[in-house]
Parts: sequence; structure tokens; C-alpha cells
Amino acid sequence: MDENAGRVRIDAPGKINLFLRIAGRRDDGYHELDSLMQSIGLSDRLEFTAAPERARDELACNHPQLAIDGSNLILRACAWVRARLSAAGAPPPPPLAIYLEKHIPIGAGLGGGSADAAATLRALARHWKLDWPTAVWLEGALALGSDVPFCHRGGQCRCRGRGELLENSNAARPPAVALLCPPQPAPTAAVYAAYARGLRETASPAVDLTAEAFAALPWQDWGRNWRNDLTAAACAVVPQLTAVRNWFARVRLKGGMSGSGTTFVAACASLAEAAEVGACFEREFPHGRSFAVEPVTAGAEATVATLA
Ligand code: C5P
Repeated sequence: MDENAGRVRIDAPGKINLFLRIAGRRDDGYHELDSLMQSIGLSDRLEFTAAPERARDELACNHPQLAIDGSNLILRACAWVRARLSAAGAPPPPPLAIYLEKHIPIGAGLGGGSADAAATLRALARHWKLDWPTAVWLEGALALGSDVPFCHRGGQCRCRGRGELLENSNAARPPAVALLCPPQPAPTAAVYAAYARGLRETASPAVDLTAEAFAALPWQDWGRNWRNDLTAAACAVVPQLTAVRNWFARVRLKGGMSGSGTTFVAACASLAEAAEVGACFEREFPHGRSFAVEPVTAGAEATVATLA
């Protein structure tokens, strides 16, 4: 293992759910998902540098509200890799100084924390030259969170199970999306708990669920038939979200909520249109933020670089 492999920098793209259906409750308390996840061109950036003078892996971040202690998924991902190395009898690699440049809003349903965890696994594989099989990395990814396996793969996938059963998908992507982010975050566990208490969507559109039908659907139809079974639950957990939902419907945007909220996604024909939609949103909700981005087609392996 080369412990002086320089620095490793990696981009951690966020995700949206073009479709999210809950297919039931599992024996382990989680929900059975059926979702079409898509990486997007809004990324955090992480840098890993060997820091032998330090006592442990340390994380610093440009975002003052983000927890940078051992509860952060980046440090938990490091701990998972270290535990596996130690179990195999390998000497511990020197501590790391990690810097996270946070761009993806927190608690927004855009997979920011999951993207950071997945990027950490990829970065450590490069930094510490670990050639473990993909199945091992995916096991680690799932141990860190349900969306981490998808973020580790990237691109577009149909995701089932807790989120770890990944199937590459090639459904039509909107050319651009406007990410409309209300200022309030939604805690994922609370949204699922509200769903489990019975806060269900009553008017989810019926979408043909076969892979062939997904592949044949024009992107405008994703926007028109947006299905996210967690929307009512998220509106119950974050009451301010109902106003966003109503505005979104009133101005006839095509799309809906991503993940467990609170971001609403509008499918657009171009980045310029997405920027215009974002400006309208920010006029209506002055504390909100918006981003005009494109879906990302390349897998996550393309985002890692070794620096001198
Ligand atoms: O796996 P992760 O830690 O991201 O999940 C956060 C919470 O979301 C879980 O504790 C669980 O309450 C809920 N969840 C679920 N079913 C899923 C994914 C998440 O119930 N498939």
C-alpha cells in the first residue's frame, strides 16, 4: 500500500428521484423502495490528504452548520474502511485530513450526505490502493445508508430493496432541471415514520412500471406523471412545504418532490428555462434557494482524481 499517494480529490454529485414508489414495509422496519434515481450536476467536493502528524482522521468543512464529528457519514465511511483493513490484519494507513466543500443543500432530498459517503469510499479505494470487489464496496455503502449504493454507482438506476438493488437504466432524462429548495430541511427518518403512520399520497399517478415502459417514456412525461409517495408525509413533517407544493401545481411546473424532501424538481427543456423557473421560485419564496443543473450521465468512477 502506498501511503504517499499524494492528495485525492473527488466530486460527489447529488441525486434526484425521477420516480419514488413505496412498495411496502419490510421486516427490518425499513420500506421497500422502487425508485428511479438520477445523478445531477450539483456536487460537493472532497479532498483527502495523508496527515501522519494527526492522531485521527479529521474533517473540516466550509459549511458552519454541518456536524464534522464522528457522526458525519464521511468519517463513518473512513471508519468502515479502516475496520475492514484491520480485520484483514493490514497495518492502519496514516490519519487523513479531509476537506469538504459543501454545495448540496442539507436535508433537501438531494442525497448530499450519501454522495459524500460514497465519494469517500471511492477516494479511499484510490488513495490506499484497495482493489476490493464491487460487492464489498456496495456492502459498505449500504451499511452507511440506503442511498449510498446508488451514489457509489452514479448515473441513472432503478433502485429497489432498501435502495441497494441497482439496475442500470436509460430512461429519457430531462435536458435540465430546476432544483427548488425551501429553507427547511426534512429529516428522512421522520418523513418515513409519518408515511408509516398513514400519511399517504392519495392521487399518485399510475405509471407503467415495466423497464420497457420506463425506457420508452419521453422526459416530458416524467415531469407530468411525477410520482413520489413520500410527498404528503414530507408536507406533514414540514408544514411550510404545502405552500411550495401548491405553488408548484398552480404555476403548472412539470415534476415534484425529490426523495424525502424538501426539494421540488421541475423538469425543463434547457438550463436557461431552469434558471428562469428558479428565479420565479425565489421571488415567491425569498428564503429558498434554486439551482439550474443538468442530469449527469457518467458513473461516479469518473469523479475521482489523484493530485500531485
Ligand atoms: O438508510 P438511511 O440511514 O438513509 O435511512 C434513514 C431512515 O429512513 C431510516 O432510519 C428509516 O427510518 C428510513 N428509511 C426507510 N426505508 C428505506 C430507506 C430509509 O424506512 N428504504
